[in-house]
Amino acid sequence: MSFPTHRPRRLRRSERLRSLVRETPLAAGDFIYPMFVVPGKRVREEVPSMPGIYQQSVDRFLEECREVEQLGISGIILFGLPEKKDEQGSEAWAKDAPVQRAVEAVKKAKLDLVVMTDVCLCEYTSHGHCGVVENGEVLNDPSLELLAQAALSHARAGADVVAPSDMMDGRVGAIRRALDGNGFGDVAILAYSAKYCSAFYGPFRDAAQSAPQFGDRRSYQMDPANSREALREVRLDLEEGADMVMVKPALPYLDVLRAVRRSVNVPVGAYNVSGEYSMIKAAAGKGWIDERRAAMEVLTGIRRAGADFILTYHAKDAARWLAE
Ligand code: PBG
Repeated sequence: MSFPTHRPRRLRRSERLRSLVRETPLAAGDFIYPMFVVPGKRVREEVPSMPGIYQQSVDRFLEECREVEQLGISGIILFGLPEKKDEQGSEAWAKDAPVQRAVEAVKKAKLDLVVMTDVCLCEYTSHGHCGVVENGEVLNDPSLELLAQAALSHARAGADVVAPSDMMDGRVGAIRRALDGNGFGDVAILAYSAKYCSAFYGPFRDAAQSAPQFGDRRSYQMDPANSREALREVRLDLEEGADMVMVKPALPYLDVLRAVRRSVNVPVGAYNVSGEYSMIKAAAGKGWIDERRAAMEVLTGIRRAGADFILTYHAKDAARWLAE
C-alpha cells in the first residue's frame, strides 16, 4: 500500500511537527571552536582567507573565550604561532610559548570550556613539516619524542585533551607514555586518526603560517582515495591509547566518518576544516549562498554522518543561530 495512504508530507506540515520527528539534533554543545594564538599583547588580526577568525595574543584570546563560554560551546582547540621557527620546532614545547600561556590563562580564569591543544610541529619548524626532516625526508621515529614533549608541555599548562595531528606512526602511544610517566594519566588524547592530505587546509596554513617550505604532506597524511585504511589508522590509534578519534576534513569524507562511527565505540569527532569554512564565507560574501542555511546544513550533515562533536570555525555563529 502506498500513495494515497502514505503521505510523508503529513509530518512536515508545521515546525512543531518537524522538530518532533527530527532525527539529528544540533546544539552549541556539539562544537569545539579552533583558535589561533600569537606572541605579543593586544594583537587581534583577522585571517584574510577566514573572515571572522583571528590571530590573537593571549589577552585578546581570553576575551573571546568568555564569549565562547557564554554561547554554550563545549570547548576550544588551540593552535599557536611561535616567536621564531627552527629546524626542530622547539617552541612547540616551550613553557612560555603562546599555546602554553593561553591554556594557563583559560584555566586560571576558570572558564567552563574543554581545553584542547593541537599537537604538531608544522607551525614551529622552519621547513613547515610535521616532523623531523633529514635529507628532504620526514623521519617518523625521531619525531615521536618531540611530539611527546609538546603534548607534555600542554598537559603541564593544564590542557584537558591533547590532539596529535601530525600523522606520524606511533605518536599516540608515545604521547600516552609521556603523559602517564609524568603524572598526567587524566589528560585525554583525541587522535586525528584519519587525516587526509587535503587542499582544504589551505586557509589554515595562512592562519598558522604552516605551509611546507618544500614538497607536500603526502608521505604522512592519508591518500584521499582510501577509506579501509582509515579504519586501520583508527584501530591502531585506539590500540595505542587514544580516547577519541577524528576524521578530517569532514565534507569530502562523510562516508569515512560513517564507517568509523560504525566500527568503534569511542566518541568520534569531525574537523570541518578551514577550506570548508572559507568556501561558505566567500560564496556568502558574494551573495551567492545563504551563509546561515548553508552552514547549518553542513553541520547537520556532519552530525548525521556520525560525528559526536565537530571542530568548526562556524561554532560561534551557529551557536547564536541555534539560540534564536
Ligand atoms: C597541523 C594541522 C593542520 C590542520 C590542523 N592541524 C594543517 C595541516 O595539516 O596542514 C588543518 C585545520 C584546518 O584546515 O582548519 N598539522
